Amino acid sequence: FGLMAYDPGFMNTAACKSRITFIDGDKGILRYRGYPIEQLAEQSDFLEVAYLLYFGELPTRSQLDDFKRTVLSHTIIHEQTKKFIDGFRHDSHPMGAFLSTVAALSTFYREVKNIFDAQNRVIQFERMVAKMPTIAAFCHRHSIGMPFAYPDNDLSYAGNFLNMMFKGTETKFKPNPVLERAMDVLFILHADHEQNCSTTTMRGIGSSHCDPFTALAGAAAALYGPLHGGANEAVLKMLVEIGSKDRVPEFIRRVKAGEGQRLMGFGHRVYKNYDPRAKIIKKVAFEVFEVTGRNPLLDIALELERIALEDDYFVGRKLYPNVDFYSGLIYQAMGFPTEMFPVLFAIPRTPGWLSQWEEQILDPEQRIVRPRQVYLGYDEREYVPMAIRE
Ligand code: CMC
Repeated sequence: FGLMAYDPGFMNTAACKSRITFIDGDKGILRYRGYPIEQLAEQSDFLEVAYLLYFGELPTRSQLDDFKRTVLSHTIIHEQTKKFIDGFRHDSHPMGAFLSTVAALSTFYREVKNIFDAQNRVIQFERMVAKMPTIAAFCHRHSIGMPFAYPDNDLSYAGNFLNMMFKGTETKFKPNPVLERAMDVLFILHADHEQNCSTTTMRGIGSSHCDPFTALAGAAAALYGPLHGGANEAVLKMLVEIGSKDRVPEFIRRVKAGEGQRLMGFGHRVYKNYDPRAKIIKKVAFEVFEVTGRNPLLDIALELERIALEDDYFVGRKLYPNVDFYSGLIYQAMGFPTEMFPVLFAIPRTPGWLSQWEEQILDPEQRIVRPRQVYLGYDEREYVPMAIRE
């Protein structure tokens, strides 16, 4: 192929230089702007992490207060946006409705096109971080035929989202501080993950200098795919299929023999050690189940993990639980339908996507994304008139 590198899936290509997120997959390390994910999950909150990702430093108390006040003042969405959401079929998938509505937002804010105006970029960042939970909850309520619940800006970011999702619905428990904190920690864990498929999409669309709302809709579309944002749903399906703890050994035998599916929620392209996010999520799961009652699928998951972590097949291939192994169990216990799982990923990934987008457009070394190909088609041939085609 001459001097060109053939690298499907860009497994071996660094397409950018970045100062945002660091991963060491062999050691199981994840850091945002240098801060370990464990410390952020323990001591920070999602809006502070969003600030950190975008501005590069932890805020002072007054910077954080101002940022939170501004974000919370942007949570409402234009009344016309509601009409837009109402236009979707009654049973539309909430992720399809969500990402289409995000794309439509660019038509409400014409100034989003001014991407080289720094002050304008900050406003769009605050706007988008603020509006994602509202759009998400509205799309969910549309899909279940419930009236929209408006944002209540006296609540926290996560509390407001839970309120808009579940207010007046039949969900058997009501949002409380433990669930609110759990939601916030899950948001922190999902806020960025360097050059994954959706972030690469965000940067790719951004490289044509498209506005950030439209680029973000494209990133969310990449997340819609089951290989990216759908693994936690696949974990739940797998656990339901296994059905009981005593059937776990037989399931593992089939996975190893290649007779059935893979062990979903295990393994990672980058982490060849325990995914640090999975450790934190496991702890959160137990806290959530104290409130919601134990998800009966948890015992199957624990048994799967116990057996796999002692089994040469998984140990030898460095397959450990990833972020998706326990997150679906938590979301289900909290009352989220499985169709909302990719949306629950897109809301907190928004500051990550926008930070990466900004880094991309301000990097003088970056060009419009335009990879080459290895052409395997026909050499030149003569057009064949229809009358003489076989
Ligand atoms: N169960 C059983 N075997 C597995 C699994 C698994 N989950 N994952 C990998 N393997 C085996 C695979 O069969 C191969 O074995 P062999 O060398 O004998 O052929 C070896 O491990 C290496 O697999 P690979 O497919 O080359 O690894 P990859 O880095 O390309 O794939 C993965 C990573 C995440 C796609 C894969 O581990 C997988 O399919 N896991 C299950 C799905 C899942 O949980 N996805 C969520 C990923 S985390 C999401 C995020 O961070 O955004």
